[in-house]
Amino acid sequence: MLRCSLALLSLVIAASTHPTVRACGPPGYENVDTTCSSTVCKQNALNFAYTYGFPIYSYGSLTKSISVDTNELAHARYLQGADQDNIVRPNADTLYSTMFVDLSQNDLEITVPDFGDRFGDFPFYDLYGNNFANIGSVVVNDLTGTILVRYDKDRIGLSNSTKPEYAAIVGSPTPYGILLVRIATSNTTADLDEVHQLQDQITITPIPRSNSTNIPAFDLTIFNRTGYIVSNETSLPEAVLRLTAAFASYNVPEVSKDRPWVAETLENAGIKDGVWTQPLGTNLTAAPIAANDSAYQLLSQPGYVDELSNGWSIYDPIFMGDFHSYYQLRWFITVWGYLAVTPEVAIYPFQLNGIEEVGADQAILFEFSGRPAIQKTGFWSLTLYGENQYFVPNNLNRFTLGDRSNLTFPDGSLVYPTDNENTTDGPFQLLLQPADVKPPANWTSNWLPGPTGGGAFTYTMRFYGAEDAMKEDGSYVYPKVTVIDNITG
Ligand SMILES: *[C@@H]1O[C@H](CO)[C@@H](O)[C@H](O)[C@H]1NC(C)=O
Ligand SMILES: *[C@@H]1O[C@H](CO)[C@@H](O)[C@H](O)[C@H]1NC(C)=O
Ligand SMILES: *[C@@H]1O[C@H](CO)[C@@H](O)[C@H](O)[C@H]1NC(C)=O
Ligand SMILES: *[C@@H]1O[C@H](CO)[C@@H](O)[C@H](O)[C@H]1NC(C)=O
Ligand SMILES: *[C@@H]1O[C@H](CO)[C@@H](O)[C@H](O)[C@H]1NC(C)=O
Ligand SMILES: *[C@@H]1O[C@H](CO)[C@@H](O)[C@H](O)[C@H]1NC(C)=O
Ligand SMILES: *[C@@H]1O[C@H](CO)[C@@H](O)[C@H](O)[C@H]1NC(C)=O
Ligand SMILES: *[C@@H]1O[C@H](CO)[C@@H](O)[C@H](O)[C@H]1NC(C)=O
Ligand SMILES: *[C@@H]1O[C@H](CO)[C@@H](O)[C@H](O)[C@H]1NC(C)=O
Ligand SMILES: *[C@@H]1O[C@H](CO)[C@@H](O)[C@H](O)[C@H]1NC(C)=O
Repeated sequence: MLRCSLALLSLVIAASTHPTVRACGPPGYENVDTTCSSTVCKQNALNFAYTYGFPIYSYGSLTKSISVDTNELAHARYLQGADQDNIVRPNADTLYSTMFVDLSQNDLEITVPDFGDRFGDFPFYDLYGNNFANIGSVVVNDLTGTILVRYDKDRIGLSNSTKPEYAAIVGSPTPYGILLVRIATSNTTADLDEVHQLQDQITITPIPRSNSTNIPAFDLTIFNRTGYIVSNETSLPEAVLRLTAAFASYNVPEVSKDRPWVAETLENAGIKDGVWTQPLGTNLTAAPIAANDSAYQLLSQPGYVDELSNGWSIYDPIFMGDFHSYYQLRWFITVWGYLAVTPEVAIYPFQLNGIEEVGADQAILFEFSGRPAIQKTGFWSLTLYGENQYFVPNNLNRFTLGDRSNLTFPDGSLVYPTDNENTTDGPFQLLLQPADVKPPANWTSNWLPGPTGGGAFTYTMRFYGAEDAMKEDGSYVYPKVTVIDNITG
């Protein structure tokens, strides 16, 4: 039995300053009997396998909402409106181009367009949703031209090419994955046209693999097969474990030290030769509960949630977006927001005890200390969702406020004047007030219409290309959020 040694564990601890890093298997898995013959050991292994494989189920759900073959881009040409399309909690900022990546038979040559001053990002994800590489206008790897993407679990991420025709080589830890290109738009007709042109400049060319593999081509129809989707006959844990069995043997962890113990733990969970059989005496209902428990347990330890100011927090960069050995946090973030990017690209600050409901005569005031510290090619937004997780309908057709809105300072001048980017900064306020309670005219530009008559909602704060001042450095003072009486004329 291969075990993660104490030496490995302490190395990880030293490198991360997080006192409770778990580089080993799931809680209770280590130091059980070495043959894993006890039910406790098998149950722990089952809990881990569910936690580990869950993102594959999310991958499958995505393939059902976007019907496209592998290695072909599906461009979203428009932002979703309030008319309840397929995606919950849609963003109001970027258009996606999605590709279900299959590197088992071919390498891919991909052209990355020049985004200029616009936010654009090529985030590469492995089969488990690890954002292992980014190329784009807010990251260190801001390059354009042709790149070579290939399955190479020994050289993960970006490297320089010896061939002059490639601007870079991207090594994927798994043969299957996702590319989810995001390009920002202000949602005007003219701006959408520009984004469409950028989308159309992206080309995908399969070329013969440098090394042959015996990995099968990625057959997406598995995600629509009985037994692999939740139905009256198939529970979520069963579907997750069957998918994990189908893919895990040749889609291995990005962290090479984890590969032996993960393989062994999956076997102890009943996964063998591509098939999952429930180990005798184990309890399938307990697996999702255990996944949730172990995630919350870890998150409650210091070092995983970083407090900023005025009640705002972010998930620590050590795991966010690219989860490495934090399998329980990978499960958690997959549930929370599948295909999150690393903090180099974006941060999503949240309020731990946020207000999520107002009365008909109430509003929420966001008091910004000044413009958020964002790169020139970045953007920020505050987007509102109703109880149903979709945009809140309103006469202004406004679902978000941010740097592309006509926000005003209290003296009426624009926070982001288009003709002069070098204006003085200062405090400004946003108002989240029910859609049926119109504020005085000077608030119109800074008004985010909430549910008519008051009610429940949630909001997402997005900072793409955030400077360090927005992160752990903490020098930017985050907005103070308070409930106030409606502001009326
Ligand atoms: C984008 O613009 C279209 C057309 O004006 C509108 O229907 C849609 O609601 C807008 N979407 C967002 C997210 O603002
Ligand atoms: C191809 O195989 C060689 C020899 O086995 C290995 O050194 C190299 O890393 C492999 N390259 C890729 C891209 O997998
Ligand atoms: C690639 O080469 C450039 C220029 O020689 C160098 O600055 C950069 O650090 C290299 N990148 C990687 C990932 O090795
Ligand atoms: C999934 O299966 C259903 C029923 O067999 C079929 O109607 C649907 O088109 C399939 N969807 C995909 C994405 O294959
Ligand atoms: C699933 O179960 C529900 C409730 O028992 C039933 O109404 C429905 O017909 C079943 N669906 C299928 C496909 O068997
Ligand atoms: C299985 O686990 C669930 C959740 O912990 C529990 O409610 C249920 O009683 C367990 N079933 C058995 C047969 O132990
Ligand atoms: C997950 O655990 C947390 C903390 O114990 C609990 O508040 C929450 O309800 C659980 N969620 C689910 C879906 O079980
Ligand atoms: C901002 O104001 C300009 C000029 O009045 C207008 O053309 C534009 O549509 C406004 N933008 C938004 C997002 O409301
Ligand atoms: C609107 O005017 C009032 C009164 O002068 C001021 O307190 C408030 O900050 C202004 N609102 C905005 C968004 O500038
Ligand atoms: C912006 O204003 C500051 C202070 O007046 C000045 O030092 C700086 O050069 C200006 N930058 C640009 C891009 O105009």
